[in-house]
Amino acid sequence: MEKTLFICKPDAVRRGLVGEILKRLENKGLRFLELQQRTISEPEAKEHYVEHADKAFFDDLVAFITSGPSVLAVVTGDGDVIKIVRGIMGATDPSVANPGTIRGDLATIVSENLVHGSDSMTAAQREIKLFFPNLEA
Ligand code: TYD
Ligand code: MG
Repeated sequence: MEKTLFICKPDAVRRGLVGEILKRLENKGLRFLELQQRTISEPEAKEHYVEHADKAFFDDLVAFITSGPSVLAVVTGDGDVIKIVRGIMGATDPSVANPGTIRGDLATIVSENLVHGSDSMTAAQREIKLFFPNLEA
């Protein structure tokens, strides 16, 4: 079964929205192979977001994602789990994310958009290995 790396970012934990967010994935029929609350380290954050290393927002992004505990999950289920999770999340920018999505319903600005989900099979494999090195592929 397909797997994806899902993160409830520090704003989700601070705002007490973890239950609400995870419930949406569970209601869809997905399940959690791993589920862990911890603070992402700076080296992990830089590696995780390496594709954005040259962007103007990179330093702020790393500071934000390391600013407090996150909830890290490996999500699986039937079907195209990577695409399904991205759909439940909604567009990166909450101001254009559709109602009914996590970002569309619960967030307002791109820098605090509550969640991360891998965007491809390659990314999912890389990100799961980064945060859950002991999980079998
Ligand atoms: P990106 O990978 O483009 O979005 P997604 O999380 O939907 O895969 O960007 C990673 C994160 O970087 C995004 O969730 C929030 C942050 N970000 C900004 O702060 N400003 C921006 O202009 C963009 C594009 C992203
Ligand atoms: Mg991305």
